[in-house]
Amino acid sequence: MSSILKIGIAGLGTVGLGVLKILSSHSELITSRSGRSIELKAISARSKSKNRGVSLDDLAWESNIIDLAKRSDIDVFIELIGGDDDPAKEAVETALKSGKHVITANKALLAKHGQELAELAEKNNVSLKFEAAVAGGIPAIKTLTESLAGNKINKIMGVMNGTCNYILTRMENSNLAYETVFNEAQKLGYLEADPTLDVGGIDAGHKLAILTSIAFGTQIDFAAVDKQGIELISVQDIEQTREMGYRIKLLGVSQITDEGLEQRMQPCLVSATSPIGQLENAMNMIIFDGDNSGQVILRGAGAGEGPTSSAVMSDIIDIARGNKVPTFGQSATSLIKMNP
Ligand code: NDP
Ligand code: HSE
Repeated sequence: MSSILKIGIAGLGTVGLGVLKILSSHSELITSRSGRSIELKAISARSKSKNRGVSLDDLAWESNIIDLAKRSDIDVFIELIGGDDDPAKEAVETALKSGKHVITANKALLAKHGQELAELAEKNNVSLKFEAAVAGGIPAIKTLTESLAGNKINKIMGVMNGTCNYILTRMENSNLAYETVFNEAQKLGYLEADPTLDVGGIDAGHKLAILTSIAFGTQIDFAAVDKQGIELISVQDIEQTREMGYRIKLLGVSQITDEGLEQRMQPCLVSATSPIGQLENAMNMIIFDGDNSGQVILRGAGAGEGPTSSAVMSDIIDIARGNKVPTFGQSATSLIKMNP
């Protein structure tokens, strides 16, 4: 068996703790599948004294994530703190420049800085991986970069924000007003700290921009996503569409048209009997249309501790196996600029 893969985790919230738990509960399984042991060496979060319900006594603590990113005893830096700029960005850059592989679940960071970070990873001959950043537990990134690599992608379509799907289906099923269901979703902990990221279509737009880059070989262009949220949808709108046999979904679509590459994240009417029309609660669904594969439909949990940390684990195992898939499915420097 080859040498131990040593990792450091920045962020011990929902996702970070989930990864810690899988590492401990599935240790043997992960070692057999990786072909080597994986050892968590060091961690970081804002508060060292917070009770997180797990023992962290054997782990080195770094109070500054930049110091964690630089540690000489780790091979992989895992960024699970969030935020589209520093300190997450600086930490990821520091790790890549220090020759460490990076795993992140941070779609906001990737949608804004993914191109430069992918180029930096390539320059330093390390991996930048982000399966958890798009649709949580659904293997959307690996499906596109690996399983469908032999296809020209015609179209991507899907529901990529569980909170919005929860709000819309709950409004429909219970006849409750948007504000009431929004407050309910907030109490359930579904909404991001800044709820406009969810209900404004921004979070889902980040995810669509990432998938678009891989599918069409273009540099991420979040600004080019035509975004509209669900804030103005009323129970009456939902009722009327239901009577016509449709449902309202916050739907992402990305495809090449006569006008160029189109990226839309907007409330749309979909047939109530279609797979997307039947998607309930906080579930996500992503549909890839490949020229050879035809339509591939992925459905699953787009958020939460288990699903998201499962996706992070798949990236850790990939790195342990030495799987070298380029960040966006092809060399970052070969990606075409959409709006030159
Ligand atoms: P949480 O808010 O639950 O946890 C964030 C963690 O980061 C906390 O442990 C916090 O420390 C730590 N942290 C925040 N700022 C700093 C800082 N400046 N220095 C050190 N530590 C810091 O977030 P999640 O786990 O939910 O999300 C993590 C990432 O995963 C985000 O990018 C998110 O978008 C992404 N993601 C999350 C999903 C989910 O279902 N939750 C799904 C898909 C992606 P402390 O605990 O001490 O406050
Ligand atoms: N707020 C996001 C959602 C979390 O509801 O889908 C997962 O990215």
